[in-house]
Amino acid sequence: MKYIIANWKMYLSFKQSAKLAHDLVLDFDPTGHHPKGDKFQVSGFKLVICPSFDSLESVGKIIKKSPFALGAQDVFWESPPTGGGAYTGEESIRNLKELGCEFIIVGHSERRHKLNETDEMVAKKFVAVARAGLIPILCIGETAAELQARKKEKVLERQLITALSPLQPTTYNLQAILIAYEPVWAIGTGTPETPENARTTHKFIREFLNKEFPQISEVAHIIYGGSVNSSNIAGFLRYQEIEGSLVGGASTKLKEFLAIIEGAKTKY
Ligand code: PGA
Repeated sequence: MKYIIANWKMYLSFKQSAKLAHDLVLDFDPTGHHPKGDKFQVSGFKLVICPSFDSLESVGKIIKKSPFALGAQDVFWESPPTGGGAYTGEESIRNLKELGCEFIIVGHSERRHKLNETDEMVAKKFVAVARAGLIPILCIGETAAELQARKKEKVLERQLITALSPLQPTTYNLQAILIAYEPVWAIGTGTPETPENARTTHKFIREFLNKEFPQISEVAHIIYGGSVNSSNIAGFLRYQEIEGSLVGGASTKLKEFLAIIEGAKTKY
């Protein structure tokens, strides 16, 4: 199973999000028949759309009977017994569940680096999502400076340890988690990591998980993100260590996103 997660970030307006979701769904039908004549099989793939909060409801309704699942781009960690509380501007797990979200991104580098989210904040979000029975997409990755200083592995280990350690006692509740390896310098720059280097890093992450968090490793899928598009997706997914992709900018354009899904199916 490979995951293709579309992160629409803050790119699209409410209307544009609904239109793109609508157009995407038109291109699929639940029988797997592609209107353009060929069979558009999506088996073997999990397709997820993460629109902005304001568009979750409309996009959720549009994709309800399609192969696409719904995800959110962030969440707040507190979950009082009532499900809500006095947290101005934040979004609750209760609401995201009610809207039909199955996946929630936590620790995206734009939140870590532009909004100063710490490893500890990300950890609280990650644990809250996992405990609620939703699938967290934990983003980790090094900056260009950290890469240059040969600190990549140390950074990844630190981010993983902080997020995963609090979860160990409740590991048995986990159905799945996604870990998105996203080098910060590759996000939105048009300069992806090479598939070969990404594969090596994914192997490193897997070995680290096997050693430090074996129970979590069993349910973890490691995906790559950072300037993925229709011409490079196949190069990443050809490797079994790369179990999918988190796609930003390229997933906000209809033809390009469809081409990414097509490209993902390329067999080597
Ligand atoms: P990008 O973003 O595909 O636009 O580089 C990826 C991400 O931020 O998840």
